[in-house]
Amino acid sequence: MILRETIDEVKNRLDIVDVISDFITLKKSGHNYKGLSPFTNEKTPSFFVVPGKGIFKDFSSGKGGDAFTFLMEHEGMSYVEAIRFLAKKYGVEIKETVASEQESAQQSEREGLYILMNYAREYYHDILLKHEEGQSIGLSYFRERGFNDKTIEKFELGYALNGWENFSTEAIRKGYSKELLEKTGLVVKKEDGSSYDRFRGRVIFPVHNISGKVIAFGARMLGKEKNQPKYINSPETEIYHKGNVLYGLFQAKNDIRQNDNCYLVEGYTDVISLHQAGVYNVVSSSGTALTEEQIKLIRRFSENVTVLFDGDAAGIKAALRGIDLILKGGLNVRVVLFPDGEDPDSYSRKLGTSDFQKFLKENRKDFISFKADLYASEAGSDPIRKAESIKEIVTSIALIPDPVKRSVYIQETSNLLRISESVLLTELNKILINERKKSEKERQRDAENIPIPTEPVSDITSPSKIDPESMVQYQERETIRLLLNYSDESLEDQKLSDFLFHELEDVVFGNPIFSEIFEGLKAGWEKNEPRNSHYFLREGNEDVKRVVTDLVAQRYDISAHWGDKYHIHIPREGEVLNEMAYSNVLRLKLRIIQKMLDENKHKLKAAEERGNETEVDDILQTQIGLDQAKKELSALLGIVIAR
Ligand code: CTP
Ligand code: MN
Repeated sequence: MILRETIDEVKNRLDIVDVISDFITLKKSGHNYKGLSPFTNEKTPSFFVVPGKGIFKDFSSGKGGDAFTFLMEHEGMSYVEAIRFLAKKYGVEIKETVASEQESAQQSEREGLYILMNYAREYYHDILLKHEEGQSIGLSYFRERGFNDKTIEKFELGYALNGWENFSTEAIRKGYSKELLEKTGLVVKKEDGSSYDRFRGRVIFPVHNISGKVIAFGARMLGKEKNQPKYINSPETEIYHKGNVLYGLFQAKNDIRQNDNCYLVEGYTDVISLHQAGVYNVVSSSGTALTEEQIKLIRRFSENVTVLFDGDAAGIKAALRGIDLILKGGLNVRVVLFPDGEDPDSYSRKLGTSDFQKFLKENRKDFISFKADLYASEAGSDPIRKAESIKEIVTSIALIPDPVKRSVYIQETSNLLRISESVLLTELNKILINERKKSEKERQRDAENIPIPTEPVSDITSPSKIDPESMVQYQERETIRLLLNYSDESLEDQKLSDFLFHELEDVVFGNPIFSEIFEGLKAGWEKNEPRNSHYFLREGNEDVKRVVTDLVAQRYDISAHWGDKYHIHIPREGEVLNEMAYSNVLRLKLRIIQKMLDENKHKLKAAEERGNETEVDDILQTQIGLDQAKKELSALLGIVIAR
């Protein structure tokens, strides 16, 4: 057991901003810090760190807590691991009642796996540097590839002896159990019960998780033996999920943050070669297309990805499709194309450090422009091919979540392909509308018969089509519903009713019935005599009673049997209240502004007709202010606004 005083000392020394900054890019915002939630795929930051209180709060996932909670949630550490991690970071000596490596190995299987993987890393590394076979075969291979000592240390490279049980014999002698050896995948069990080392006669690339623990190995063969895979990799284990890991991220994360860019390459050796060439912000996806999880990992450090790919023409188009997923993840994608037959590894060695860095800088192209260029030159003046190109490019643009970026790309594509923007926009809208219909259908299918009150779909994304008046009313109604059902629930350190009434202090509801209920609730709250549905059912007129009944009935306690019967956890509304209350206030304000904007437009027209210039000026001024407010609110909500 770690002693209380150690924990207190860690708590005294730690700085939560510093701790979280190792994993997420934070920007200062007033007294606090803000960043993109690492727990969801959001596009606008709603992850807050409050250094004064030593806490973080993620509005998009609802998670929150102190530095320990963060490490537990984000890194999957146990409480004890988090303490050890922070003690190390801040140089606090750990005092414990019974301290031993054995004890922690028993404590949890995961920890046991980490410990054995770490042992294996040391073992393979030592063999590489100290064993005769390691030196003559492994080390000389790395030397031939141009890897220097610093690189070999940084990536903790190793060598596995060419024999069936060199490693397992040694590990068992050190006290690691056979069972654990199998669980890490370092040893393979045969049907007859005997077992052998997975990695033999190969150089070893340890794969680290984001906090630097070894969770897997890749092992490359040395020669060109036939019938042998070039790489043998660790299997999926309790601590290793291939799709959630990026090779090199641990070594690269700070450089990615500092450069605000992440180079993406194909494999182990490309990552290492780039380091050798002085380019440190690089990761690889282990030879496969990026997964959504991996994209999220990159986004924690930067929103910019530069994909480096080999210049063989056939591969390019296939690679382009993989990149679409990165666009969809909201990242800005650039590409660097290498000359035919070269890859980052070979080319960096050919050019040498400074020319290679120059090459990367000068040849990086925005992905959409790159694609547009590629198709434009191919299509030439053939109208059919040109139409195909347009579709191809616009399909990529449609994936970009940010509408502002989309419109910039439309403009650029229009210039590059010499096609009017309106043609591109029509194509884009077709795709977007189809997408929206599709996801709407999916949502309906998912929802089945569960009475979740959904918003009108198109809402403010197309304000012209929807009556702003009714949008405001929808949100007014939603506010009352929250107040009637959850006014006493606590959000952070205040009650929901306190939060909503403070936030909506200066808001007057437009719908007379909603207004009556809202004002009634507010009056009760101000007198500290909270009113609930019973009050309105007793005192209210028929309209009020009808509305209140509807709203209270909508407190959808999704029947518990869903959980019991199907073991599906459906978050109850109470559990996500924070987010709902917050976004509800923003939505209500946004809709009021939308309504004011519309009214203002009419006023403007009238003033123009009257020819009253000072009036026109005033109205325009108001319009600009409202537009700005709308933008800010939309950004907070992460909502798409059409102009
Ligand atoms: N890969 C793999 N298994 C294979 C081949 C490839 O897991 N049998 C993955 C590895 O992560 C590898 C990446 O795909 O790093 C790229 O493959 P490749 O270019 O063949 O390997 P490099 O690591 O670049 O090795 P080298 O340049 O030495 O050929
Ligand atoms: Mn390669």
